[in-house]
Parts: sequence; structure tokens; C-alpha cells
Amino acid sequence: MNRLLRWLAALLLAGLCQAPAFGAEDVAGPAALYRQHCAACHGADRLGAMGPALLPESLERLRPAELAAVLREGRPATQMQGFAGELDDARLASLADWLRTGPATAPAWTDAEIRGSHVVYHAAGSLPASPVFQADPANLFLVVEAGSHHVSVLDGDRLEPIHRFRTRFALHGGPKFSQDGRYVFMASRDGWVSKYDLWNLTFTAEIRVGLNTRNVAVSDDGKWVLAGNTLPRTLVLLRADDLSLAKVLDVTGRDGQGSRVSAVYDAAPRHSFIAALKDIAEVWEIPYAGMASGTIPEPRKIVLADVLDDFYFDQSYRHILGASRDGGGQVVDLTPGRKVADLALSGMPHLGSGITWMRDGHEVMASPNLRQGRISVIDMQSWQTIATVPTNGPGFFLRSHENTPYAWADAMMSPKRDTLQLIDKQTLAVVGSLTPSPGRTAAHVEFTRDGRYALVSLMERDGAIVVYDARTLREVKRIPMDKPIGKYNVFNKTTRSSGTSH
Ligand code: HEC
Repeated sequence: MNRLLRWLAALLLAGLCQAPAFGAEDVAGPAALYRQHCAACHGADRLGAMGPALLPESLERLRPAELAAVLREGRPATQMQGFAGELDDARLASLADWLRTGPATAPAWTDAEIRGSHVVYHAAGSLPASPVFQADPANLFLVVEAGSHHVSVLDGDRLEPIHRFRTRFALHGGPKFSQDGRYVFMASRDGWVSKYDLWNLTFTAEIRVGLNTRNVAVSDDGKWVLAGNTLPRTLVLLRADDLSLAKVLDVTGRDGQGSRVSAVYDAAPRHSFIAALKDIAEVWEIPYAGMASGTIPEPRKIVLADVLDDFYFDQSYRHILGASRDGGGQVVDLTPGRKVADLALSGMPHLGSGITWMRDGHEVMASPNLRQGRISVIDMQSWQTIATVPTNGPGFFLRSHENTPYAWADAMMSPKRDTLQLIDKQTLAVVGSLTPSPGRTAAHVEFTRDGRYALVSLMERDGAIVVYDARTLREVKRIPMDKPIGKYNVFNKTTRSSGTSH
């Protein structure tokens, strides 16, 4: 046993936080403070253990004030205790700075470590192939409650929860369903991919594919799961039946530069996965139709003029509408693999939240804007912006459903983040406004499978799902939830409704 392990063992025996006395040189620097006070839960290597990973990538979304508050006060009702009583402000500040700095050598996560993390709780085919509940399995919602890392399963007909389960720390990207709606695949920030059997209400397998993960996609044929990582810079292909590792692909551009993955998608009509890359001007396509035979093809690398930060697929997955960092936009036709048009965009459009519908015989696409209070509406044939609808403020999500006349927009990036506005999909006029709870962030709308009810998140610790009748706009009920950041209807997702992002 090396010194550190011996010391950790001693720390555990001493009751975790009751650190034994140390020499002056040990308590001086933040690395020593970390070893003394944090390593037992967060891992000596900062890769996470009983507590989450604490690498700079892990903490990216934590604002400086939030980080300081966690160190000082801890997180209520978790094992994370505050350290204000033990460490003075200067020490806490030095720890916070140190956590934002990467280890001297970039941490690795090898194939052997991925395989070593793999757990199968229920072998494929060992659980009954029928739901253990009465609710319509195609009208279930999964509600991701980020406050305490849980998912609630809602019956979309009775609008009642039927189950609630704990997830890995911080799910990243939406949960993805198998085509039959039975299985859900979830990625967590720290790289865990989990497979959940929604009919039996239990996890079946888990594997840690990386140290910092963006999201997962599941193939249309139900055979493969692809995870996109930020750390290490890899794509990880898993077999969907038991989540066993099939292949790790290094994400490296033509000039040898590695890239983080910004997101992976299932382009079902093309029978391929698409990976969007954050640091290199390429989009990768991995056809999976032939993979069942055991050979995994090399990705097709589509070279672009700009890095695409955020993008939208048309319903056929032939075109991607992308926004680049400098604010410009382009349309890429995936078939020849090249740009076919420029898009007139301004501010910071959030194309990833775009939706489409038919208007005057034309397919149009609309997306919110993270910097400006406006919704841009683009004709999907001419690629021209045909309207700009002013809203209450910069928003994040836009949602609708085939059976409802309105598109619902939030203003969550603005002071009016407690409001939602309804846009008539034909006249493009704002026809209604809702404030579910004054002063509380309201965003992320998802419809029941028939489009009759709209479910809105109040994204607070003591938040709720607020259910509206999508026609009369009357509130139907509130279901209490712990920071419900997103909700996903099995039918709308598996049929790829044009009113929701995929
Ligand atoms: C007894 C175990 C334990 C110890 C000791 C501990 N933590 Fe934690 N820490 C946790 C757990 C569990 C969480 C997750 C809490 C939650 O669910 O939000 C956490 C969360 C955090 C977070 C928030 C991470 C995020 O992404 O939201 C930070 C930052 C953090 N800890 C830093 C520290 C530091 C620095 C120390 C040492 C000074 C420390 N922790 C000691 C268990 C511990």
C-alpha cells in the first residue's frame, strides 16, 4: 500500500472528515487540503468516487459563486458538508482555484478501465417483456429532476407519477429511448451510461465510458449506443443489449488535433450516427446498418469551413442547419457532404432547440435565440428567414406538437424568465402569454402524445411540472418536482415528432 492509500484508509477510519492532525507543510497548499478533506469522497485522482468528479471539465457549468457556496455550505441533504467551519476563506478560495486547474497530466480512461466499470444487473432477455403497470407505455414521460439526481416516471393519461428512481450524478443530454419505448439510455456528466428497463422499472446495465460525457444516441435498430465525450476526446460505441464496449474511436482531426464532442445524434432515416465536434471543423457520420456483422466502419468525416457549435437536423436528416461561433450560419447537405447555403442569423440562435411545421404548404423551421428576444422562422426550401417574432426575452427552448396550433417559447435567459409565450404557427403572431409562478423560471415544454396537454417545468428545487390544457391554456394541475429540468414523452420522442428536438 502506498503512502496515500494508507493515509486514505486512516482517514476513512477516522470518520471521513475528521482529518487527523498534519504537519504545517501538508496543510499549506490546496493539493494537500484536497488530499486531507476531499479525496476520500471525490477520489485521490479527482475522477470521482462516492462523490462526483472534480476536474475543471466537471465544474464547467458551476458558476464561481456557486462553487464558493458549495465549499462553504455544502449541499443540503447530501454527504457534501460545508467546510466553512474547518477552513478559512483564503484556504477555500485556493481550493476553488485549484479545482479549476487540470492535473499536470491529463487523466486517461482506457479501454481496460471502461471494461472494468461495466456492470450487468439483469442480463438481456431475463426480465418479463410486458409492463408491470397499467399506464399506456407509449404515453409515459420521464422527468429529469436535477435537484437531487432523480427521474420521475409520469403516466401521461392520468398525469400522475407512477415511479421515481435515483440516477447517476448530473444526467447530461436527454435520455434516449429504444424504438419500442421499453429501454431508456442515460448519460451522466461523469461518464456513466445507464440502461433502464421502463417496463420493469429497473436498471439493467451500466458502464463508465469517460470522465466527462456530453450525451448518448441509440441506433434506430436498437443494437448500438454511441456516447460522445469531452474527456478523453473519444466516441465510445456500446452494444445496446448489455452496454458492453464495442469500440473506442479517438476524435482527431486531419491535422492530428483532438476535439471534444459537442453532441451525438441518431440520424435514423440514414441509419447512421452523427457526431458534432467542438474543436475541429468536421462532422462525423458513422453508418451502423452493416455493423451487426461485427465490422465497425471508419467514420465518414465531412469537412466544413467552420466549427459548428450547435445545429438542427431537418426531419429527413439530410440537411443540418448549423450556427458557427462567429454568429454566421450554414446549411450542410449530408449526402454530398458540403455546404449548400448560408443562413442569415444574428445574436446566438439556439438551433438545437429548433422545431418544424407546415405553413402555407411550406415546411418552416423556428428556433429561439440565447442572446436576443426573438424567434427566427426559416423556410426549409429557400433557406431564407421569413419572419422574426419578437418575444419577452432571450430563450432556450421552443416546443410544439403536430396537433396543436401554437409554438411555446420561454424567456429563460432573461429577467422575464418566469414567462412563456405562445406563437400562432400560421400567423406567426404572439397570441398568448403565461406566468405559471411569478419570479420562478418556467421553461421546457413537452406535450402528451395526443398534443392535448402541455407540461411546463418550474425549474426550482421546490419546483413542479405545471400541466396546461394546450387548447384553452387553462392550468390543469401541478405535480411537485425537485428542479425538473427536462421531460421526455416516449411517443413524441420515438416517433420523432416535429414539435420537439431529437
Ligand atoms: C463525505 C464525502 C464528501 C467529502 C469529504 C467531500 N465531498 Fe464534495 N461532494 C460529495 C457529494 C456526495 C457531492 C454531490 C452532492 C450533490 O448531490 O449535489 C459533492 C459535491 C461537491 C461539489 C459540487 C460538484 C458539482 O458538480 O456540483 C464540489 C465542488 C465539491 N463537492 C467539492 C468538495 C471539496 C473541495 C471537498 C473537500 C474540501 C469535498 N467536496 C469533500 C461528497 C463529499
